[in-house]
Amino acid sequence: MSHAPGSAGPHAPGTTDPHGAGSTDPHAPRHHVRPPANWANDPNGPFRWRGRYHLFYQHNPYAPTHTDMHWGHASSPDLARWTHHPIALTPTPGGPDEAGCWSGCVVDDAGVPTAVYTGIDHRHTGLGTLCLARAADPEDRHLERWRPEPGPVVAGPPDGLEVTMFRDPFVFSHAGRRWSLVGAGHADGTPSVLLYDCTDLTSWRFAGILLDGRDPVAADAFGDKAVGWECPQLLRTRGGGWVLAVALWDGDPRATGYLAGTLEPDAAGGLAFAPRTGGRLDHGRDFYAPAVLQDDAAGRALLWGWSWESRAREETERAGWAGVLTSPRVVDLGPDGTLRTAPAPELELLRAAAPFVTAPVRTPLPVAYDLSVIARTPTTASLLRAASGAELTLRLDPATGTVTLDRSGWPRARGDGAAPLVLPAGPPGAPELEVRVLVDGSLLEVFAGDRAVATERVYRRPDDVAELAVTSGGAGPGGAGDGAAVTGWALVPPTPG
Ligand code: FRU
Repeated sequence: MSHAPGSAGPHAPGTTDPHGAGSTDPHAPRHHVRPPANWANDPNGPFRWRGRYHLFYQHNPYAPTHTDMHWGHASSPDLARWTHHPIALTPTPGGPDEAGCWSGCVVDDAGVPTAVYTGIDHRHTGLGTLCLARAADPEDRHLERWRPEPGPVVAGPPDGLEVTMFRDPFVFSHAGRRWSLVGAGHADGTPSVLLYDCTDLTSWRFAGILLDGRDPVAADAFGDKAVGWECPQLLRTRGGGWVLAVALWDGDPRATGYLAGTLEPDAAGGLAFAPRTGGRLDHGRDFYAPAVLQDDAAGRALLWGWSWESRAREETERAGWAGVLTSPRVVDLGPDGTLRTAPAPELELLRAAAPFVTAPVRTPLPVAYDLSVIARTPTTASLLRAASGAELTLRLDPATGTVTLDRSGWPRARGDGAAPLVLPAGPPGAPELEVRVLVDGSLLEVFAGDRAVATERVYRRPDDVAELAVTSGGAGPGGAGDGAAVTGWALVPPTPG
């Protein structure tokens, strides 16, 4: 990533290297959006404006810790090459966001890009206010200056619902009106998504609870641990269905889930979301806080998430940076009504001109790569080998239609998740199964066909050997050597976009 010409860059005093802190850290992703230094969490307000994609994110510009939230900002002409811009939102002393500009979205409000976000003041107890900030110059395709409105448009949760968590507005249009979801949790431990009519962005009307954790489809899809649903997002699929995505919060951020269903106006002047099915939005242990862009010009919905650090806190502090946004993903529903997720095709722009591997052979792996393995028979791809002999592997099994990620040789600082991760990748018995692997420093994104995606952080140790080895359990239908096909590209150093 690079700084916009003439911009001072995000507030990272003394940072002259465009990659900032972490540029010498082999674990630092180079091709994904993250600030030049210090802390990032949720992606916020993905937005398309005058030929560029804008992506904002929760950012503490002063330390690699989760406090003092600002909105960092980057933009791209093509989702592959990103340019940093100055910080978009900064807490206003004495304002409703004095203690933090928390998550939200960006919408086109009659030609003026407008951030709708969570304001946190010094008294906050989990309850935010909903605030607006307008682009100072809508003609500027880089959207570099933002003006916060002095007061909140919603001062807190609706009366009478005993809401104990309230944040993360997500604005969308449907049935001729403009609406917002807000993430919530209630005193009795029930998570929910609240709905507002905000057709006039300066005058909001509470329109009911869109859905809560007592819904049987939601309870079945998510389990019952969450006490709050953060960052609710809604997307329209190509076939006209709706997908609701939420971050599952049980006092700490845990995981993400989706529900697929219908969305219709209801008799009470609100909307009714009827979920049909659901499951994990991302199956990995290091993905949270989804952000959706309904990219109508391209006829698709895009999704980003936050991948947190899973190494020890002291190591993160020493590294001086924490958190990265995932690759943009195209999200839709398959013919069976379940989620489909694929890397945005534009990511192919990051590939080197020639692949470094085109056959299932043993070969060194670069620090950042894009690898595809197609298996016709049971196949194992090893990506990393420890001095102990342990290997980081992906096992593709066409008979069961699964891909299994085994990273048990790389224990996590949080201590969770030694068990292999089994991902549905296709119908059992299909003639072939594909896995696409995007690695960028410590960030690993595994796309099991388009049926499941898992985001994980793997920190290579100095004596680990990053070597690809593919072994296939016999010949495929085409004869010897036909069991698996492998193609991989190094990612080329990013250039400004
Ligand atoms: C999700 C979240 C949001 C909140 C933001 C604060 O990770 O907790 O609910 O707005 O992060 O940084």
